Amino acid sequence: MSSVSLCVIATGKYDGFVPRLIESARRYFLHGRDVTYSIFTDSVIILTESSRSFNPYLTPHLPWPLPTLLRYHEMTRTIRGYDYTFYIDADMEFVRPVGDEILGDLVAVQHPGFFGKPRHEFTYETNPRSRACISAHEGTHYFAGGFQGGSREHYGKATAWMRDAINEDLRNHAIAEWHDESHWNRYLASMPPSIILSPDYCSTPQMRHDTRKIVALDKEHEALRS
Ligand code: GAL
Repeated sequence: MSSVSLCVIATGKYDGFVPRLIESARRYFLHGRDVTYSIFTDSVIILTESSRSFNPYLTPHLPWPLPTLLRYHEMTRTIRGYDYTFYIDADMEFVRPVGDEILGDLVAVQHPGFFGKPRHEFTYETNPRSRACISAHEGTHYFAGGFQGGSREHYGKATAWMRDAINEDLRNHAIAEWHDESHWNRYLASMPPSIILSPDYCSTPQMRHDTRKIVALDKEHEALRS
């Protein structure tokens, strides 16, 4: 059976979201498959919880926006060990079954804020100093950063590419407006995803309730990003 890793970055105050997310994943995420929860954290409680399906990795907490920007650096530590790797934001929750329909080489979710909107409204990076920059003739969808993934080979290549692009940006003191999400969109503008999921896989509390599969919880951004 294929092995799957679900990666979560949970440093600083984000550790508090982990129990609820993992409980919902055990119930709804690829139920019956061989799933390992890969948790990147500085929480002593989580770090001592290691079990066969729960793998915490010691990850220092850094000032915002580095924890989100360096997600690909963390994931490339583990990606080779699994047939498929997915990333999910810590402050999300599975509310309906997410099954084999997501098992593909490069899997992206259409951002709920831009679904059905024209290309000129997308918030692609336009600063040419950033490696995430997308020119006016590129890009067909705007993808959300909060849930994404794919196969060892294809998502592995994507995460290594984004890690290197983000390193270059940091050396040049350029930070893309939407951080990792900008780089994910940049990568996908050149390498289109093999599976495009609807916004139900990265939905907001305000969206229709009857089809949502993964929901972002309401949160106090400023308090969490300390
Ligand atoms: C917002 C979302 C951000 C980012 C942004 C892109 O709705 O909260 O995380 O995705 O859209 O424009």
